[in-house]
Formats: sequence, C-alpha cells, structure tokens
Amino acid sequence: MLKVLVLVSGGGTNLQAILDAVDNGVITDTKIVGVISNNANAYALERAKKAGVSGECISPKNFESREIFNEKFLEAVDAYEPDLIVLAGFLVVIPAKMIEKYRNKIVNIHPSLIPSFCGTGFYGLKVHEAALERGVKVVGATVHFVDEGTDTGPIILQKAVEVQDGDTPKILQQRVMEQAEWKILPEAINLIAHGKVQVVDGKTQIGGN
Ligand code: GAR
Repeated sequence: MLKVLVLVSGGGTNLQAILDAVDNGVITDTKIVGVISNNANAYALERAKKAGVSGECISPKNFESREIFNEKFLEAVDAYEPDLIVLAGFLVVIPAKMIEKYRNKIVNIHPSLIPSFCGTGFYGLKVHEAALERGVKVVGATVHFVDEGTDTGPIILQKAVEVQDGDTPKILQQRVMEQAEWKILPEAINLIAHGKVQVVDGKTQIGGN
C-alpha cells in the first residue's frame, strides 16, 4: 500500500482528482495519509476534511526564519512516513534536505508541457497567460519528479491540450486541468503505486515491473 502525502496551497482540484481516483478505483493499493497546506484558508483543506483525510497548515509566515520553517516542515512531512509526496498546486519551494531525503519520491504537477513555460515565475495562471501571449497552438500538463531545480526533474507523464480561438488564461487553465492534469496526476500515482516508474540516468522508464 503506497502511503501518499499531498501538499497544497489553493483550491485543491488536483487533490480532489486524486481522492476521487482512489475512491473509484482508478488508483489502487494507495492510501492518502494526509494533506499539508501552507495556506490556512486553502479550500483544499476543506476537501481533505470532507474526505476524512487529516489536514494541517504549516506556513513560512508562522516561523522566524526560512531555516526554522524548513526544519519544521520536514518534521511534519516525516511524521506521515510517506512513500510518495505529491505537490498538487503547492507553491512553496521544497527544502534541499527534503529533496535529498525523498529523492524520486516527490512528484509535481505543472500546467505546461515542460520544458515550455516552466521554471521560476511560471505557476498557476501565469503559465497560461504566457502560452497565449506566445501564441502556441498546443499546451498541456506534466507530472515529474522533483529535483533541486525548478521543474527540471525526470518527466513521468505529459498530456497535450489544444488551444482554441477566443481562449482566455482562465478558460485555458480550466481545459488543461480537465483534459490533462486531473487525468495524468492520478495515472502517475497509480503507476508509482504499482512499481512501474523507474528513474535511469535522469529519465523515467515506464512499465514493466
Ligand atoms: C494547478 O493548475 C497546478 O498545475 C498548478 O497550480 C494549480 C493548482 O490548482 N501548479 C503550478 O503552477 C506549479 N508550478 P488546484 O489547487 O486546483 O489543484
């Protein structure tokens, strides 16, 4: 049974997609053991509560320094003894010590086809604003392992989504979530739960056992 801890900052629609996928058997052999938010008002915490999953807030704002936050954050994560940590719209930089300790055990969902529209400053709606500004015709989402860089870790799954005439950043964001994010994030977790994702030379190999 894969023990999954989900980290969130906002609305939590990706968290919801994971909870639903566990409920309806799209993800198997997996238990969501907790949800941590850096934002006490995140609707994601409400979703956790409704699903009967323990949720808590730990925010850099409540600590004297980033170093102290990083220590407490790692302690909070360790307490769940997770096999996998899922960043589902989590907007806090993951401390180096956590990345080291959970190497290839932290995945992130990013709302673009990496390496396009990713890295520092590209998050949430900004990604879709940039894509429309550039005039690309295809966008999408990526699930990847987290390494020391921003959106640079091994790619697990990607799914493309078409841009349509008249798209606004919000409309495009919603389409990318519906058609890509809410599908590939649960799919990636299920693959990991079944031992089907290996990292070899900084790239993933999917399938087999
Ligand atoms: C999602 O679109 C996710 O891909 C994005 O934030 C949104 C969170 O929505 N993440 C990033 O931009 C990370 N760089 P949600 O809280 O409804 O899941």
